[in-house]
Amino acid sequence: RPTYASQVWPAHEPHTHSSPPVRSPLPRAPRIKRARLLPHHAPARSATHETHPPERVVHSSISRLQITSSSVLPRKEAMAAAAAEVSNKRVVLKRHVTGFPTEDDMELVPATARLAVPPGSAAVVLKNLYLSCDPYMRSRMSRHDEPSYVPDFVQGEVLTALGVSKVVESGHQDYKPGDLVWGMTGCEEYTLITNLESHFKINHPELPLSYYTGVLGMPGFTAYAGFFEVAKPKKGDYVFVSAASGAVGQLVGQLAKITGCYVVGSAGSDEKVNLLKTKFGFDNAFNYKKEQDLTATLKRYFPEGIDIYFENVGGAMLDAVLLNMRLHGRVAVCGMISQYNLEQPEGVRNLFCIVAKRIRMEGFMVTEYYGNYRKFEEEMAGYLKEGKITYVEDVAEGIESYPTALIGLFYGRNTGKQLVAVARD
Ligand SMILES: NC(=O)c1ccc[n+]([C@@H]2O[C@H](COP(=O)([O-])OP(=O)(O)OC[C@H]3O[C@@H](n4cnc5c(N)ncnc54)[C@H](OP(=O)(O)O)[C@@H]3O)[C@@H](O)[C@H]2O)c1
Repeated sequence: RPTYASQVWPAHEPHTHSSPPVRSPLPRAPRIKRARLLPHHAPARSATHETHPPERVVHSSISRLQITSSSVLPRKEAMAAAAAEVSNKRVVLKRHVTGFPTEDDMELVPATARLAVPPGSAAVVLKNLYLSCDPYMRSRMSRHDEPSYVPDFVQGEVLTALGVSKVVESGHQDYKPGDLVWGMTGCEEYTLITNLESHFKINHPELPLSYYTGVLGMPGFTAYAGFFEVAKPKKGDYVFVSAASGAVGQLVGQLAKITGCYVVGSAGSDEKVNLLKTKFGFDNAFNYKKEQDLTATLKRYFPEGIDIYFENVGGAMLDAVLLNMRLHGRVAVCGMISQYNLEQPEGVRNLFCIVAKRIRMEGFMVTEYYGNYRKFEEEMAGYLKEGKITYVEDVAEGIESYPTALIGLFYGRNTGKQLVAVARD
């Protein structure tokens, strides 16, 4: 029986469930180990700390270095003990979620990390600077009997998320301390990664690094790949985008304008609607929460119908859109956030429109397009520098704020791309 599980998403999750390892195009989740993540006040000695060279220890461990580099200890142990031990607060899944997630489903756990890689390994220690909050993580918080398209988080284990990180220790010949990367990491301050294959080096550090959680990272590339590869726009197309002020939506709308389309967005507050019209250059926008009849609303904004629907929300909006699509319209199905917390998904009633109007409706996963990431990165960096794309992010401060920031996505609390600044450098 064919399975849709994990075809393109993390193949190497730390301590995750039993979904079969599958090969995927970039990025696969890296192997993340807790080898250096000791419990708070754990003794300095650890089996994995044998041969860390003292000269690579970060400055905060100077006192430890002075104490342990004497000949009293055997050489290996002295070196191991010399590795810097730092605070490593982490966000752990307390229990699997049904319905809407709450802060209480996660727990901030104090821990420490030792900044060292296993001798002879190609592992790296990352200092996590910015962590992304993404809607797909909701699926990972549930426990699925059948494997889902992304592996479930494991109860009691640290969450993983996309993030921007700095290499602080490296056994990998292609990475050195100070290098900047983005990819899957732990929701914590430091993460040991044994396989960096799925990370991207950051090519434009002159732009804000946090942009690599959004406009220059996965959500930005989702907008780009979904719009150009799936929706295949033409100049003059009528484009509708839902969740339009979010990480993906704000960029789809601007790419549509660059392409010469007419674009309308929906969002969940007047403030967001205003942002769409005044900052992102949408031709029009509406607050879907204030509309009684979405079919009539769309008819008002698209009297001639919709050529492209960039679908982010699903549910009632999708039904209303189907009735308003034009002949040979395209629906790029990016996500359906309105369904993620429902125990029973809502039905869609107007599917026959797909036949009658010869609509092409296609779901996609950004990970399948990562082969083109570098082309996108250059193009988007160019747009940002030229001022052709504007970008809004919603930055929460500190790892402590991660649970609140993450669940805020499902209540529309974020304005723009939601991320958490764990450290600035
Ligand atoms: N296919 C892929 O590869 C891929 C990759 C990335 C993201 N996605 C999908 O793209 C969509 C947007 O993701 P994003 O990262 O850009 O998130 P986002 O839009 O930045 O944040 C989520 C937004 O969804 C809206 N929302 C929440 N609950 C809703 C509901 N019940 N009905 C309608 N809108 C609701 C809220 O905005 P309002 O205030 O406007 O309601 C909220 O701010 C999601 O469906 C996500 O799963 C897919």
